[in-house]
Amino acid sequence: MRTLLLYVSVTGQTHAFAQRIAASLGNVDLVRIKIKTQIPTNEFWKIVKIGFLVWWGGGMKYEVQSIDFDKYDTIILGSPVWMGRGAPPIISMTKKYNLKEKIKGLFVTCGYDPGIVFSDVKKKCKINDVKQEIYFISLDSFEDKEVQKRIDEFVSPFKSDTLTSKESLLHEK
Ligand SMILES: Cc1cc2nc3c(=O)[nH]c(=O)nc-3n(C[C@H](O)[C@H](O)[C@H](O)COP(=O)(O)O)c2cc1C
Repeated sequence: MRTLLLYVSVTGQTHAFAQRIAASLGNVDLVRIKIKTQIPTNEFWKIVKIGFLVWWGGGMKYEVQSIDFDKYDTIILGSPVWMGRGAPPIISMTKKYNLKEKIKGLFVTCGYDPGIVFSDVKKKCKINDVKQEIYFISLDSFEDKEVQKRIDEFVSPFKSDTLTSKESLLHEK
């Protein structure tokens, strides 16, 4: 069985951290959910539009390559923090494909404060078996050893779940 890292990213921060996490974790499939709803590039209108969609619902269109969720026993979700909340596509996909039992890790990126994002996502998705959750501030330097240390700590419980096939064979003997 494998691990899936499923994430949303509009401006690239969550994407960058997803790649860092995947590199630390090793054998993992990385899937980005693409937002199809038109997001304004103007910062003010971007905040107004995303804020409206997060707070008052109304749905956010998204597109994702077809995924065989049966292949995975562990799913890690990644999201930007929007108004202290998680990205709506993360929540709607978890519900649509009934992924709650498989979600073992949550990571988010934010500008200054993760707010209530973890409890919001867990509550909305009815997830209650999260082993690890972590947030990264967008301005964290990617070269910073502290960031890598935090990523390594975050992925460590998942390492045994993501053994390569060769390692799995050795364990079976
Ligand atoms: C509409 C909107 C709302 C945001 N709300 C918050 C917030 O509540 N707290 C916070 O720390 N950062 C907030 N941010 C900043 C983003 O969480 C941060 O830039 C994040 O890393 C973006 O991820 P992305 O580049 O993967 O899209 C917000 C950004 C936008 C556009």
